[in-house]
Amino acid sequence: MDSLSRHEDYGHLALSETDMTSDPLAQLAAWLVDAEQAEIYEPNAFVLGTIDPSGRPTARTVLLKGLDSGLLFATNYSSRKGDAIGDGADVSAVFGWYSMYRQLIIEGRAERVSLSESDEYFDSRPRGSQLAAWASEQSRPIATRDALDQQYEDTDRRFANDAVVPRPEHWGGYRIVPSRMEFWKGRSNRMHDRIAFDRVDDGWKVTRLQP
Ligand SMILES: Cc1cc2nc3c(=O)[nH]c(=O)nc-3n(C[C@H](O)[C@H](O)[C@H](O)COP(=O)(O)O)c2cc1C
Repeated sequence: MDSLSRHEDYGHLALSETDMTSDPLAQLAAWLVDAEQAEIYEPNAFVLGTIDPSGRPTARTVLLKGLDSGLLFATNYSSRKGDAIGDGADVSAVFGWYSMYRQLIIEGRAERVSLSESDEYFDSRPRGSQLAAWASEQSRPIATRDALDQQYEDTDRRFANDAVVPRPEHWGGYRIVPSRMEFWKGRSNRMHDRIAFDRVDDGWKVTRLQP
């Protein structure tokens, strides 16, 4: 496997405190635009880390669906991650834009968004995705692929006469409000740039970290 022994030179482009906005959420928005312009596949994908009720850490990819005072994503509240977060929990989020030598690590608190926000996002989804939210008991076992396809067909029939598919109660959004955001930029000789924003009473404390 060549990929295990490659030594990529991450270049000389610096990440400097003075180039960054004072609000790390605005900085994330700027990096998302850069990732879109660089045509990165799924630039809004991030790895969401949670702790389940027994204290075990787990992680999976989700898509960022909104950015305001926090990061919004949508999921099944009865899934494994939904069980881990419940009505609110500390989580981590990692964006890896590797071809741009960029990473962002976030720690924060995830809370359910309002019902109206979940409705609004659900209504914007393609009908097939809306049906899937009813048809799939996310994270639960199923015997065969055929059985899963059958659940989708049954759901399709159930809503066949409805112009609008309603949002199931078990599906909705979470907002992650960050307490810490660390921006990483790869540099030559592994002397990378790391700039961390820690939330304090009146804003953010900015700290440069050794690579
Ligand atoms: C690129 C990508 C994007 C994904 N986006 C979402 C998403 O926005 N919401 C979601 O529930 N699952 C999403 N998934 C699936 C999750 O990674 C995961 O398999 C699923 O949510 C079940 O996770 P859980 O059992 O830990 O709850 C995505 C997967 C990939 C690879």
